[in-house]
Parts: sequence; structure tokens; C-alpha cells
Amino acid sequence: MATNTITAAGGQAAGARSVVLACADVSLRERLRASLVGLRWQVREAAGGAEAIELMETARPEALVVDCWLPDLEVGEFTGMIRMMYPGIDLLRVDGVVEVGGARSPRRNELLHALREAQDDAPGTAGSVAMVTSSPASSGVGTRPPLMREARAPAGSGLGTGLAEMVGASTAMVELARMIRLVAPKSTTVLIEGETGTGKEVVAKAVHRLSARSAKSFTVLNCAAIPESLLEAELFGHTRGAFTGAVQSRTGRIEAAHGGTLFLDEIGEMPIALQAKMLRFLECGELQRVGDNEVMRVDVRVIAATHQELERKAGEGTFRLDLYHRLAVFPVEVPALRDRMEDLPALVEHFLEAMGRDSPRKRLSVEGMMKLMGHGWPGNVRELMHVLERGAILAGDEPEIGAQDIRFGRKR
Ligand SMILES: Nc1ncnc2c1ncn2[C@@H]1O[C@H](COP(=O)(O)OP(=O)(O)OP(=O)(O)O)[C@@H](O)[C@H]1O
Ligand SMILES: [Mg+2]
Repeated sequence: MATNTITAAGGQAAGARSVVLACADVSLRERLRASLVGLRWQVREAAGGAEAIELMETARPEALVVDCWLPDLEVGEFTGMIRMMYPGIDLLRVDGVVEVGGARSPRRNELLHALREAQDDAPGTAGSVAMVTSSPASSGVGTRPPLMREARAPAGSGLGTGLAEMVGASTAMVELARMIRLVAPKSTTVLIEGETGTGKEVVAKAVHRLSARSAKSFTVLNCAAIPESLLEAELFGHTRGAFTGAVQSRTGRIEAAHGGTLFLDEIGEMPIALQAKMLRFLECGELQRVGDNEVMRVDVRVIAATHQELERKAGEGTFRLDLYHRLAVFPVEVPALRDRMEDLPALVEHFLEAMGRDSPRKRLSVEGMMKLMGHGWPGNVRELMHVLERGAILAGDEPEIGAQDIRFGRKR
């Protein structure tokens, strides 16, 4: 009896599905291809991430299988980008980790089966469920970092921070969100450290929102924005006639924040003389208006932020060590964008979405995304936001922001 064979290579037969295999390891790729072809998948192979992205564009496959290591792109970044650009596909790692959520479908089961088969065929493995990947010696890629490093769950789990205002699913951001949830309900002072534009104010607001104070005010005071001579009165208030020009008494920001949260931005810029007064307030909740003998007690939760290394400043004598310790009861660090590039696609998506509220929503081309991936982001998330805004303008009426529309500011 003649069987009606569907040739996988032809790919013309009804029901033929295609998959892109991104894997630098030739022997692993061959085994995977054999299993997949056996299941009538049409297989397209890429030796690296960039090649795989090109294939994704041309082949529009139903699935992508990616190795735990790629020679040209960090796997977390790569899968993050794929997830954003092709949300509908099955994205799996060779070790069987499913990178995109959703129901288990017959299609996915088949892929998992093929991965398992390729594993079973691997030289030296006796049907183990462990990592499929081969040793550096057999990989033909030279050095291959230990695979367990990549085998952490959160990268592709799509869980994110769980905080609406804080986009990101990198391990560092997920951990930061966990810290925020832990500390928010307390009245503990929080010190937020991080480079410019990383999202320190976003973190401060999240702490406030998740606290019992959320219905009360969130007051911001940027210590760098107010002249030194005025900062004390601004913070603590003053009586009438306390100093030249004080024609009326005035409530300070601390007093005004009673019951709520006071966010002291750029705390490193606080004049050293004022630091002592601040310390006293933090230690016993007491404050005095300038020119007043009366001591007031207020209930304010202080969150401070800095882009400077306060500990180093304390060592140099420009910041009080005791205040530093008092502020840093609960220190958190917001990581630089370049150290969590796997968050980039989600952030891009977030900003394109936000910009799409006032004007037609644009998308970003693959080349544009590659350009963003290659940038060092000294201005972090804020810089990304501006680059995309600029890109959207430069793209004009085009629905897509291209690589030529991505322009970075002058080198700092
Ligand atoms: N994880 C994030 N998700 C979404 N938006 C973010 C995130 N991080 C930062 N942003 C956005 O980026 C911009 C800069 O963030 P923010 O003002 O909190 O940074 P910052 O660390 O306080 O910067 P600076 O040190 O310059 O004061 C804001 O528009 C903020 O909404
Ligand atoms: Mg800020």
C-alpha cells in the first residue's frame, strides 16, 4: 500500500509546521533536526541569535527552539526580544524550558518530545532529563560557559515584577520588587541607590503605594534643586521673622508630609550642617521650625535616593556616616539598564504603548531593536524613553521605527 508521505523538507504539505533552531552546537542541532523532521516539522537552522532573527522574519515559523547559550547574543536578551516580536509562537529552550506561557498544545508536546529524543540520543547520556547540551569539547564553539548559569527560571517565565509601575522581568528587577513588597508595609527608612534614570523615583512611589500611607501624601523634595540657604526652612519650616525675608511663618515639607511619605531625592547633596538636624528627626521624629523653640513630633516615613556612593562620601567626610547608617536601614539598588538588557524589549513595548495613546502606535524594527541592544545606556531607562520618543518623531508617518530613526545623544 502506497503511503502518502509528507516530506518535511518540501514543506508544501498541508499541516507542515516550521521551526527555527537557534543553536551553535552542530551535533546537537543535527540531533534536534533529525527528531523534528521525524515529526514532520520543517526545520530552519541558525548558528546564532542574529541569524535566527533573520530566519524568524523570513520563515515566520510556529516555533523557535533555542540553545542555552548563543555565541552572539545573551540568551535572556534574545528570548526577551523574540517574545516581544512574536508573541504567538512556541518558544522553547533545548533543555525543555518553555519560554512562553500558554496552554500545552499538541504542537508543543511534539516539540518537547523531539527535544527529549535529541537528549536521549546525545552521546554519553542515558536518557537523562538533564541539560541536553554538550561539553565544550564536542560543541565546536571553543568555550562554552557552564549551562546551569542560564538555567534560572524567572528570565523567561513572563512573571515580571508584579508592580504595575515597574516594568521588567530580569532577576535583578524581580528581586528588587520583592524587596519593595517586604519593606513597603513598614515605616522603615529606605535608601534607594542607582544611576541616573534607572527608576529610583518609580521605586519610591511603589513603596508608598504599597504602604498603609498610600492614601496620604507622597511629598518629593529634591535636595539638589533648592539653594543650600533655603533648604533648611523648606524642610523644617520657619517662624515669622526667623530670618530676613521671613515675613510669615511657614510649614516645612516634613510637617506637611505628616502621615505620609517624604521622598528626599539627591540626599547626597544635603549640606552637612543640615544633616545633623535631619538625623535627629529620623531618630526621634522630632523637629523644630527655624526660629522656633517648640519641638514638634510628626509621623513621616522617609525614603531617600542618591546616584552617588554615600558610603564613599562618608569616607571622604562630605556626608555624615551616622546619617548614612540611619538612612541605609534598608538599602535597595536599582540596577543600571545595561546590566539587565533582557528587560529592554518589555520596556520598549511599554513606552511604545504609552506613546501610542496620543498618536498612532508605532512598532520598532528588528534592526532598530538590535541597535538598542548594542547601546550602553548611560542615561538608563529615561534615555531609552527619550530615544524612542525621538525615533517615533523621526519615523514620521511610517508605522515602524527603523534603525535610522534610532539616534543616541552625544557621548557623555
Ligand atoms: N522599570 C521601569 N518601568 C517603567 N518605567 C520606568 C522604569 N524605570 C524608570 N522608568 C521611567 O523612566 C523615567 C526615569 O525614572 P525615574 O525618574 O524614577 O529615575 P531616577 O532614577 O529617579 O532618575 P534621576 O536619578 O535622574 O532622578 C521615568 O519616566 C520613569 O517612569
Ligand atoms: Mg529621580
